[in-house]
Amino acid sequence: MKYREMGKLGIQASAFGLGCMRFNGTASGDSIINEEKAIGLIRQAIDGGVTYLDTAYVYLDKTSEIVLGKALRDGYREKVTIATKMPMEYVHNREEMQALLDSELKKLQTDHIDFYLMHGINKEKWEYFKSIGAPAFFDDMKKAGKIRYKCFSFHGPYEDFEYVINDWDWDMVQIQYNFMDVNNQAGTKGLELAGKKGIPVVIMEGLLGGRLAKAPANVQALYDAFPTHRTPVEWAFRWLCNHPEVSVVLSGCNEPDQISENLRIFDTVETGIMSPEEEKLMDDVREAYLSRTKIGCTGCRYCMPCPNGVNIPGIFSVWNKTSLYDTDPKGDWDLKQILEKNNGADRCVGCGACEAACPQHLNIIESLQTAWRELGAGR
Ligand SMILES: NC(=O)c1ccc[n+]([C@@H]2O[C@H](COP(=O)([O-])OP(=O)(O)OC[C@H]3O[C@@H](n4cnc5c(N)ncnc54)[C@H](OP(=O)(O)O)[C@@H]3O)[C@@H](O)[C@H]2O)c1
Repeated sequence: MKYREMGKLGIQASAFGLGCMRFNGTASGDSIINEEKAIGLIRQAIDGGVTYLDTAYVYLDKTSEIVLGKALRDGYREKVTIATKMPMEYVHNREEMQALLDSELKKLQTDHIDFYLMHGINKEKWEYFKSIGAPAFFDDMKKAGKIRYKCFSFHGPYEDFEYVINDWDWDMVQIQYNFMDVNNQAGTKGLELAGKKGIPVVIMEGLLGGRLAKAPANVQALYDAFPTHRTPVEWAFRWLCNHPEVSVVLSGCNEPDQISENLRIFDTVETGIMSPEEEKLMDDVREAYLSRTKIGCTGCRYCMPCPNGVNIPGIFSVWNKTSLYDTDPKGDWDLKQILEKNNGADRCVGCGACEAACPQHLNIIESLQTAWRELGAGR
């Protein structure tokens, strides 16, 4: 296992951090953990050198912290640092923040949390956390030794990231980043900004939740043609660890084989490891994925709100995503939401208000029907 500096904190962490958000593989479904198996996976990772574990109050129907706490008995707690999170939805004042943190400490069977994160924030959510006194609470908990570092995980546009990271003296940030997300969310600009400030960066969704683990045919052909053969997973992690600003790459694993494979990969990857030819390969791979784009919708939302309730950017986003990564729309969470909320293309009456507003001049009416058909979503 390679260990990397955590920016200005003066500590090191394993390059591979285990994400505890998944652990499915139980007959009962995703939200209930197969406890014995999950504990085995966590201990396998720690025995292999992983020192960074990431969970959250809400993961796996609030059971992830409990299982992690059990896995860290028998001397394992002393070998690792724990990151967990405070969700905005559950706290409205200091008493609730205190009660929530105390319940997390109890579930995790520990007297302190190493990295405590405001969960999944953007500018608006950060303003909310400020309005309920979260910064003072985090400072006080740090002084009291209940948390070691005050951090946030981020989902939002770069502008929000820049605002949030500059607005407080954060100890660490967690961002979604991978070779496809260079211009999405915090993106490369956000990564570099954190690096300049000396704030360590922990990466989530390095494999885009597993979508980058299996390459579609046109992408696989590029990997196959390269003189050195590596799996898509290895290419993705190698690309991430090449960046000096990256401290830890989280990956959620469901099987012992995935842990073993990731332990093997993170034994070999470090900053500056990619040759110019390898960097070019990953640029070509990104282009090959993007060539599978169905429609050039940028998600600007000028077309919204649709007078008939169609979620136009949402449908186009699912259409593009499932085409890019060759995944089954049936399992797509965003599509399920669109169907549940009855915001489908079947509500389109062809009024054309969207086309008049679209800065990309997209043929929205016809494309919506094609997307709906190809997604198999029509009733
Ligand atoms: N704070 C937040 O807002 C937030 C949001 C997202 C994630 N996170 C955290 O970040 C962690 C990492 O994100 P993630 O779980 O989405 O990571 P990820 O690495 O992008 O995706 C994990 C998935 O990749 C696949 N995988 C992992 N290793 C593999 C291997 N060696 N070979 C083949 N497939 C492999 C598995 O897919 P299969 O399921 O198909 O086997 C696994 O479920 C989470 O677990 C969570 O702790 C935080």
